[in-house]
This record gives sequence, C-alpha cells and structure tokens, in this order.
Amino acid sequence: MTNPINLMAPEVLANPYPYYAELRRLSPVCQVEPHGMWAVSRYEDVLFVLKNSALFSSSGFTVAWQPAWVGYNPMANSMITRDPPQHTRLRSLVLRAFGPATIARLESRVRATAEKLSSGLVDGADFVKTMALPVPAYVISEILGLDHQLLPYFKQWSDDIVAITPTPASPEAAERIRGTIAKLTGYVGQVIEERRREPADDTVSELLRAEVEGQRLTDVEIKDFLILLLVAGLESTTNLLGNSLLFLANHPEMMARLRAEPSLIPLFIEEMLRYDGVAPGVPRIAASDIILSGVTVPRGAMVFPLISSANRDEQKFPDPDRFDLHRGSQGGLAFGQGAHFCLGALLARMEVRIVLETVVARFQRVERTAGEISYQCALTTRGPVALPLRYIPASG
Ligand code: HEM
Repeated sequence: MTNPINLMAPEVLANPYPYYAELRRLSPVCQVEPHGMWAVSRYEDVLFVLKNSALFSSSGFTVAWQPAWVGYNPMANSMITRDPPQHTRLRSLVLRAFGPATIARLESRVRATAEKLSSGLVDGADFVKTMALPVPAYVISEILGLDHQLLPYFKQWSDDIVAITPTPASPEAAERIRGTIAKLTGYVGQVIEERRREPADDTVSELLRAEVEGQRLTDVEIKDFLILLLVAGLESTTNLLGNSLLFLANHPEMMARLRAEPSLIPLFIEEMLRYDGVAPGVPRIAASDIILSGVTVPRGAMVFPLISSANRDEQKFPDPDRFDLHRGSQGGLAFGQGAHFCLGALLARMEVRIVLETVVARFQRVERTAGEISYQCALTTRGPVALPLRYIPASG
C-alpha cells in the first residue's frame, strides 16, 4: 500500500475493500488523501466517532459546501451540518413529517412506477438510467411536491450541489451551480407558498404544520431540509440499486434464490448495505485533541470515519468478505449511527425492496455486458456510473 493512501485514486474507487483491510490492520487512524483527512477504519472507532457529536462536529459540512463563491447553499445549512442542540430541534420537528406514514403513502405508487419502468429493461439497457435513478427521483418529487416534468433535471441538480469545491472548476461551472441553487430554491419556495394557501395530505404541508414545544420550522429551514432530501435521497438509493443489480449479475445463484423466495429480499438488502454500502464515509471536525486507537487526532482536523471499512471489520463481522444472507448484519453502520442516523432509512429500504421484487419477478437472470464498470469519483457515495445489462425474461 502506498502511503498515504488516496481514497479518490481510480484503483481504490474500483475496489476499496483490500485498502480498507490494510488500514484496519496497519494504520487504523491515519492521515490520507485527499485533504490530509484522518481516516478512521475500525468498527469500534467509527462507531465512537459517529455517536459522539460533541467531540466530532458535523459543521465541517458547512465549511465544505458553502465557500464564498457559492453564496447561500441550503444543503450547507441543513440539519445534516448541525450539532446538538440546534440539530435536535430541527430533527424533532421534521420527524413529525417524515415517519412511517410518508412511506405507507408512497409504497403503492413506487410499485406502479417500478413496474412501468421495468418494460424499459431490454437487452443492453443501462439499469442506472432506466430504473435505479428514476425510481428515487420519482419518490423525491412526490415528497417535495415538485412537478414531475422537473424529474429529468434532478440528477444534474444533485450533482451540481455535491460538486461544490473550495474553488470552482471554472467560471461557467460556478455560474451553473449558483443557477441551480437559485432555481431549486425558487421551485421549493413556490411549493411552500402553495401548501400554505391550500394544505394537502403531503410532506410539505406536514412540515408547515409541525410544532414541538411551541416551536415551528421557518420557511428557510423547510427549504434547507427539502433540498437536503433531494441530494441525500437520490444518489444513495440509486447507488444501492446499482450495487445490488451488479451483485446479482455477478452471482446468478443469488438471483435464483431471491426468485424462489422473494421474502429473502429484505435480508439481501441488509447484507448488501453492509457488504457494498453506498456511503463509504462521512466528514466530521475534531472539536478537541482526541486519542483514537492510540493516535492523537488534533483539534480542528477533518476526520473521516470509514463506514464501509467498519462494515468489513473482521472483529465485528467474522469472515467479512463473504456475502451471507443470514448474517443478521442489519446493514451494519450503513445508515450512520447516533444523532444523524439516516432519516430516510425506512424509505430507502422500501424503494429498493420494491424494485428488486419487480426485477426478480420479471427476469430469471441478469448478465453483464462486455466492458469495465466505472465507479463515481466521489468520497461520500459509491456506485456504478452506468450499468448496461442483459435481462433474461422469466418465461424465456
Ligand atoms: C441506501 C440509501 C441511503 C443510505 C445508505 C443513507 C446513508 C445515510 C448516512 C450514513 C447518514 C448519516 C450522515 C452523517 O452522520 O453525517 C444519512 C443521513 C441522512 N439521510 Fe440518508 N441514506 C440513504 C437514503 C436516504 C433517503 C432515501 C433519504 C430521504 C429521502 C435520506 C435522508 C437523510 C437525511 C435527511 C439525513 C440527515 C439526518 C440528520 O442529520 O439527522 N437518506 N444517510
């Protein structure tokens, strides 16, 4: 292993797991590229970082996502970037509007959408473009109350927001990103106004109604939250679907098992989240000097708990590189832990279950086409950019 390891190097992005294993064994807490961040790779340490927001602040997100050239970035001011007690207040307010009722309301519509889209899964079709992206995009548009005609733009908007770097790639990119933020904030603002005039049985109306101990969300807080949902809910679910189908194409025996017993699909999803999760790590800032696995991480340092490494830690998961449906992993730390535990975990599980149920009912096998799979060039998300497959119909 070259030292320091670069988490963005193409060979690491293609298959990070052997590199994570080396880190766990030799340097469980060490500086890596990019940015000289402190990577934390063992399960116990990752859990400690995630659970201790007083020691490891989420405010690093704001610094990263709102450099001066951007102006106001709703995502950079949303709850994911806040520490308690501010975070606690926001979370208790949005929880009212984002619980099991939202999921129940969406389930039948997700199934109808997945079934309709599955007719586009024809020889060589890109699974990401045909199914893995449009299903979560549809769900987000329903939650945000946005016009379905805007669906094709979601990916670009989300990409623009996550692509923010301290210096813009070019003046044109800066202009486009500022434009995206203005457009998106404008659309979301319109929906808020409409629901205030005429409340409906939907998430935005519930956010407007939400009240805890006499406190309500401001319009700006609702906008920040809705835009966070677009980014947090789109790419992650798309990638989990992409990783799952790639695994099924590489393991036809697993596809046959799920076809024979679709009730195993929830177990498949939990183990997939552990085995090849879509949020490899999340950034934090050390609030003081702190010792982890015998190494002192200095105050103010950017810390990067590697969730996907924790999920392959042999101390926690025996024989961690084996995909085991009956391991009972519950996804490991894939949805985070502690104060910021993923608010969309139930929703994502529902979406992925329905898509997989649709796919295994319709096809007996999926097969890879020729060519390498390229992975997204990103630190906080992992999934194939495109996934062209052959789909062998169940009756064929
Ligand atoms: C497979 C899919 C998903 C994965 C693996 C995932 C993973 C995560 C992780 C690791 C965190 C913790 C971030 C941190 O500690 O800094 C998180 C937070 C969050 N996720 Fe997800 N997520 C997924 C899907 C979704 C969906 C579908 C939504 C909503 C539409 C969503 C909304 C959120 C929100 C709002 C937070 C912030 C919670 C807070 O700050 O309290 N996620 N997610």
